[in-house]
Amino acid sequence: MKIKFILVALAGMLMVYSGAEAQSNTKSKRVLVAYFSHSGNTRVIAQYIQEISGGDLFEIVPVKQYPTDYNSVVDQAKKEINAGYKPALKSKLASIDRYDVIFIGSPNWWSTIAPPVSTFLSSFNFSGKTIIPFITHEGSRMGRSVIDIKKLCPQSTVLEGYACRGSNVKDAHDEVANWLQKINMVKK
Ligand SMILES: Cc1cc2nc3c(=O)[nH]c(=O)nc-3n(C[C@H](O)[C@H](O)[C@H](O)COP(=O)(O)O)c2cc1C
Repeated sequence: MKIKFILVALAGMLMVYSGAEAQSNTKSKRVLVAYFSHSGNTRVIAQYIQEISGGDLFEIVPVKQYPTDYNSVVDQAKKEINAGYKPALKSKLASIDRYDVIFIGSPNWWSTIAPPVSTFLSSFNFSGKTIIPFITHEGSRMGRSVIDIKKLCPQSTVLEGYACRGSNVKDAHDEVANWLQKINMVKK
């Protein structure tokens, strides 16, 4: 009787242990790291996340490139965001079905996500999936990005995400690793 009790207790402990294991890494999750980057900062963070989480990397590229001149892109972005414009994308992901977790990266443009990211989020059914935003910025952090992502993906779980100042991305590897550790998104 005593031995039976010990065996049951051991089995229970084993189940709890393996459950904790399953949650502490991305082994059981299929992860996509999708991002748009105009001047390269968000790409750096996307690459860190890809390396640490082991997910697939996907760059969101609009058909028509944004101007490189700062004032021109700022003007164009303002007009597009105010109009709710969703530019056509060059690169198409075949399907989102095979992913459970989608990291979505964008520069903060006028306190929200860049229009190509809105197009991407409107192109698939993200119901039941977990969306994890990451934003690079020059002072406004996430702005209203999370609120706007939730509006586009109302049936998804949208986490608070991660914000990094664009000028700090080169030094942010450890910070990204700590964040991913905290949210159990480190590959085994
Ligand atoms: C069109 C445009 C609008 C921007 N708006 C904001 C803003 O509202 N708040 C902010 O903190 N930074 C803003 N920035 C700065 C960018 O968010 C920042 O430089 C970012 O790291 C750029 O990412 P990228 O190199 O991946 O394109 C803006 C930049 C551009 C080009």
